[in-house]
Amino acid sequence: PRDRPGGLPVSEQRMRLVLLGPPGAGKGTQGQYLTERLGIPKISTGDMLRDAAEDGTELGREAKSFTDQGRLVPDELILALVRKRLEEPDAAEGYLLDGFPRTVVQAEALESWLEAQGIRLDAVVDLVVEDDVIVDRISKRRICPVCHETYHLVNRPPVKPDVCDVCGKPLVLRDDDRAELVRERLRIYHERTEPVTSFYRQRGLLISIPGDHPVKEVTVAIIHAIEQQIG
Ligand code: AP5
Repeated sequence: PRDRPGGLPVSEQRMRLVLLGPPGAGKGTQGQYLTERLGIPKISTGDMLRDAAEDGTELGREAKSFTDQGRLVPDELILALVRKRLEEPDAAEGYLLDGFPRTVVQAEALESWLEAQGIRLDAVVDLVVEDDVIVDRISKRRICPVCHETYHLVNRPPVKPDVCDVCGKPLVLRDDDRAELVRERLRIYHERTEPVTSFYRQRGLLISIPGDHPVKEVTVAIIHAIEQQIG
């Protein structure tokens, strides 16, 4: 029932995109709009890990021991998870990666998988948002644990308080969104994930977009920048 952004022509071409940015930058929010618009699946490692934890799988339990401390899940676990997901049929012609790659090791692995298939990423979008804005945003975020729809108590509230607009389930605060963990996640982002932006800048793929504007303005800016990038 939400009002989706629109009005800009978007290429018919299926694309392989990466969304980078600190925790709370708006990757999940923008990723949902973009994938609906571009007709490609959103592959979110954060959502996959939360689903595995919810299902009580061995991977889920192991991953939760890291995410609950605001730490990154080890590269080998993430690489196995993503590689398997990229082999699924819906990812054959394009996808948007949200939350991956998050270390230079992951970026190098993705690059070598793609090279082996003779393909490359079309663009890497980096959402730039200051730490203080992030801390405030995350404290007001609520998510649907079932369908992953994301809300914000002020900027994007659900129609009915504390209930998901899409599937009607009760909304929750993510376990890793407690204030004390958010600063730790930001520290790890600056140390481990920021170098990934340089990796893609060197390859001419990086598009930096200010992420501290209203959601729809950010979506329009991303689509415009991608169109320019792919010419
Ligand atoms: P993950 O789920 O990927 O979390 P994250 O990167 O920390 O990002 P978030 O989901 O917190 O934020 P977001 O950028 O999606 O923002 P959102 O759109 O929700 O990963 C969780 C954990 O899993 C990691 O900490 C790590 O432990 C592990 N993990 C995952 N991938 C991994 C990997 N590859 N390697 C190793 N470990 C991995 O927006 C935030 C809030 O702001 C919402 O309330 C939203 O409504 C609001 N909002 C969004 N945009 C705007 C706007 N423009 N203006 C105002 N409000 C806005």
